[in-house]
Amino acid sequence: MEREAAWELVKKYVQADGLRTHMLAVEVAMRAYAQHYAEDPDNWGLVGLLHDFDWEIHPTLEQHPLDGAPLLREHGVSEEDIRTILSHGPFGERITLRDKALYAVDELTGLVTAVTLVRPSRDIREVNVQSIKKKWKDKAFAAGVNRQDIQEGAEALGVALWEFHVPFVLEAMQASAAALSLNGNAG
Ligand SMILES: [Fe+2]
Ligand SMILES: [Fe+2]
Repeated sequence: MEREAAWELVKKYVQADGLRTHMLAVEVAMRAYAQHYAEDPDNWGLVGLLHDFDWEIHPTLEQHPLDGAPLLREHGVSEEDIRTILSHGPFGERITLRDKALYAVDELTGLVTAVTLVRPSRDIREVNVQSIKKKWKDKAFAAGVNRQDIQEGAEALGVALWEFHVPFVLEAMQASAAALSLNGNAG
């Protein structure tokens, strides 16, 4: 599936701007990790862009992402891409590097976005690792972001959480600040 078709699919099934932006953020992080591991950025980006496409039509973890599979198949997404998308769910088995990367970046992009949006500037280029760490420790902040998932994801991927993973994903998102609407109020 081409990127444009994937984005059309996302826009068809996802109405909330926040969720669309979440998928764009995961796409950006997946493309960066693909480059890091000398894999295909288009392909890794695609599973990131699509991974939560069915959340609004399947808004429970019993349904999502499993029940989205037939729709993806109908739209011509490959079986291996569907398998990776399903692997990020609670019943998923994360086997390939791509599966592990998707799991590791999913919740983290949410935390980085939340940290950006509480700043008066709403500009991700002003966010640093220290500010993310501070909010990480504040359990009441963005309480829906499962810190343990991020930690286990980084471990499974084989990257150090604070020394590599967080700065790496932050940098990737900063480079796409405008596309993620995290480039400040004035932008
Ligand atoms: Fe999901
Ligand atoms: Fe997600």
